[in-house]
Amino acid sequence: MSDTEKKIIIAVDGFSSCGKSTFAKAIAARLGYIFIDTGAMYRAVTLYALEHGAIRSGMVDEEAVVRLLDDITITFRFNPERGASDIYVNGDLVEGKIRTIEVSNCVSRVSAIPQVRRKLVAMQQEMGRRRGVVMDGRDIGTVVFPDAELKLFMTADPAVRAQRRYDELKAKGERVTLEEIERNVRERDKADMSRAVSPLRQADDAIVLDNSHMTVDEQMVWFLDKFKAACASR
Ligand code: DC
Repeated sequence: MSDTEKKIIIAVDGFSSCGKSTFAKAIAARLGYIFIDTGAMYRAVTLYALEHGAIRSGMVDEEAVVRLLDDITITFRFNPERGASDIYVNGDLVEGKIRTIEVSNCVSRVSAIPQVRRKLVAMQQEMGRRRGVVMDGRDIGTVVFPDAELKLFMTADPAVRAQRRYDELKAKGERVTLEEIERNVRERDKADMSRAVSPLRQADDAIVLDNSHMTVDEQMVWFLDKFKAACASR
């Protein structure tokens, strides 16, 4: 059996805006695996909470968010144009609405709510049950799939990450400043690492990828080497 035929779980965790999704999507396409962006799921719950009054003026009403949870059904559907799955909430396509600065500013607080995590982690475990997935997030290698065969932990300089996010949002026509984005990146790092439930931390058996000065192609070469080694050691 060749390396690509052995279906494994690849956990890609790490800081926000360090290109996890781009990288995870590229490796999933290369291997013919399913790519699951778990950050999109936390963002989708945050968007729903914003649209249904559970977040007002940036204040998250945790009990109200929990009450909404049973009303939220998240699904993914493959979009061949993007080469990745789009996310839907109760059948509505929300892919384009979940990456605004408004959602980004509230998502850390929503994702710190234990009931939110419980619901989304259970969904993620179900989606990866048959393996052959690349799942990107914060707690995939530590909580969702502690038995993942290959765990990567991505990081990059916060200033580099802020600049990337800024370029992305500017390209979409959002009115943002680099200072605002850098503040958001640093605040999210802090919030993600210090929350009580499933804080962002590197799994003991994860391999670190610092891509501050690496191109996507260079990251792919780096990855294929690790993938080969992970498959060979099974
Ligand atoms: O990857 P992202 O920036 O789109 O993630 C959005 C937020 O969701 C991020 O601030 C942390 C949270 N998140 C999480 O707590 N656990 C995950 N597995 C994925 C994301």
